[in-house]
Amino acid sequence: MTRHRRAAIGAVFAFVVVACAIYLARGGADAEPLPGQPLRTLAKSSGLELGTAVRADVLKRNRAYRQLVAQQFSTVTPENEMKWGFVEPERGSFEFGPAEDVIERAREAGQKIRGHTLVWHFQLPDWVGELGAGELRAAMKEHIERVVGHFKGDVGVWDVVNEPISDRGGLRPSVFQRKLGQGYIARAFRLARAADPGAKLYLNEIGAEGVNAKSDRLFEVVSGLKRDGVPIDGVGFQVHANLEGLPDSFVANMRRFAALGLDIAITEADVGLKMPPSAEDLEAQARVYEQIVGSCRAVSCKSLTFWGYTDGRSWISETQAGMGAATLLDDQLVAKPAFFAVQRALGG
Ligand code: G3I
Repeated sequence: MTRHRRAAIGAVFAFVVVACAIYLARGGADAEPLPGQPLRTLAKSSGLELGTAVRADVLKRNRAYRQLVAQQFSTVTPENEMKWGFVEPERGSFEFGPAEDVIERAREAGQKIRGHTLVWHFQLPDWVGELGAGELRAAMKEHIERVVGHFKGDVGVWDVVNEPISDRGGLRPSVFQRKLGQGYIARAFRLARAADPGAKLYLNEIGAEGVNAKSDRLFEVVSGLKRDGVPIDGVGFQVHANLEGLPDSFVANMRRFAALGLDIAITEADVGLKMPPSAEDLEAQARVYEQIVGSCRAVSCKSLTFWGYTDGRSWISETQAGMGAATLLDDQLVAKPAFFAVQRALGG
């Protein structure tokens, strides 16, 4: 091989390496544009905030994912990065970096942050479960003060207490309930309000969509908080749904909470399908999504959040065997019938 030829090959090789490095550094390819008006624009005209759960690591390294989050949604909820296990893995040692990354991106995209979550029985570090009552009380105070204080002004809404009711209608026997008694709920709200008087404070519940033993108990607990002057501003219904659709009583249920003077939000909507889904399943899923948006609008809910927006990044396919395809876009970020249904339900 001549010297010229070797030099030319070297130059091409260097160019390819640099081009690949640039491509990777910017997080890969641009997103294909989604058809129609962005969901956030459609939602805005009816005063609704529209959000998605996001993952800090994916936001950072995946350009297309990041672009669609910015384009389609007006709020974001860090899916895991503000949970106790992430934020305070060791007592008194706080890790805010990944959540701060999400906040930074949200700021650039003009989005609000929903903080999730301060007091939850799950994704707790082991040390919390090992504390006696007195120490647990102190640790909960310290956790809420530090976390809410740190994000003061950045987080507009907190899920202060998550999933405190068990499915059969009792108080969930979390470590907080067992060691501190039901009063932990009111205390968590008071501490959160003191740490950031400007943030809206929510109780967030799973599987309490219909009027049933669980939501009745939730209603009793929330009514009690209101009666006692506890600073609670809203109730979040998660709405992890499937093709059975939503209970007929969903709207009536949300209305009774709204009648207490509380804001209502749908906080974690998705619709899991058996894998692989048929075309009919995807159409049926679209109808459930339409129902979710319609129910939210029927009670003038403040905010509707999807628990992820692409099937490539969803807890359903990651944790529920045989289930998946739960979100609006497929794993290639292509719009599914559900996406168009949400657009239509938002008036697009
Ligand atoms: O961060 C670790 C990583 O270090 C480790 O290598 C990896 C191996 O499994 O696990 C990673 O943690 C996982 C975490 O998600 C972040 O990816 C946990 O195992 C996994 O359990 C966790 O799942 C989350 C789940 O909550 C439990 O906290 C899901 O992503 C998240 O979507 C789900 O969200 C909950 C809401 O917070 C509350 N409502 C129900 C909803 C669905 O379960």
